[in-house]
Amino acid sequence: MITDSNDDDRAMAAQLSNPQGERGKELASNMNKANALVTACTIDCLIPEAGQNIVEIGPGNGMLSFSLTYTLEGNGHYQAVERSADMAQQVRDNLAEYAECEMTIHNENCFDAPIEDGSIDAVFGVNIIYFIEDITALFTLFDRWLKPGGRVALGMRTSDTLKAQSFTQHGFKLREKAEIEEAMIAVGWRLAGSEYFEEDDIELDGKTLKVDALVLAAQKM
Ligand SMILES: C[S@@+](CC[C@H](N)C(=O)[O-])C[C@H]1O[C@@H](n2cnc3c(N)ncnc32)[C@H](O)[C@@H]1O
Repeated sequence: MITDSNDDDRAMAAQLSNPQGERGKELASNMNKANALVTACTIDCLIPEAGQNIVEIGPGNGMLSFSLTYTLEGNGHYQAVERSADMAQQVRDNLAEYAECEMTIHNENCFDAPIEDGSIDAVFGVNIIYFIEDITALFTLFDRWLKPGGRVALGMRTSDTLKAQSFTQHGFKLREKAEIEEAMIAVGWRLAGSEYFEEDDIELDGKTLKVDALVLAAQKM
């Protein structure tokens, strides 16, 4: 069967943005291999501690947050906000039974998640910022959820890396580091460091991708 590569790219972009069905589950499992390092680095930037209440936006199938649920221990709380019903179910299947801490899975767009204002110690997301239209609105939301001193960490591929991937033409919002940091400062946060590293090529859905990683951290004053 001949398929149009533009259609393939569109389908790939749609799955990355909101994984669905068997293909979405397979992609999520491939993402775990591809995104393990950037996710571990993003979680480290939160400096998580036992007893904290931490929110993750867009965990995919949740496997990469397994160790975090142990760090939080029995008196901590991990909240996953995942807009894909299939991924939210995978987080339940993969984590809920085994998590050491309290766990809540919100199958919602993050803008609709019922998280109490001023209730969380940290919020993070990996490879989600490309799907957010308005990052100022996102950071304002996080600011509302966070306790004073609360931390934010976002892990991502850089815009240069993503521009080289044809599927990102289909709805990805590509932003430079400076633009994201300016939006963080504008909501009143202190920048708490950034990390950049290059990774080995990854295989995703039959494509070999050259990737780097950028993690940006900030703190509510
Ligand atoms: C590219 S995947 C990344 C998954 C995982 N964090 C990783 O890096 O391997 C993006 C995930 O974020 C979720 N997502 C995207 N935008 C979202 C939003 N506004 N609210 C909640 N989840 C969102 C998608 O459903 C998808 O599971």
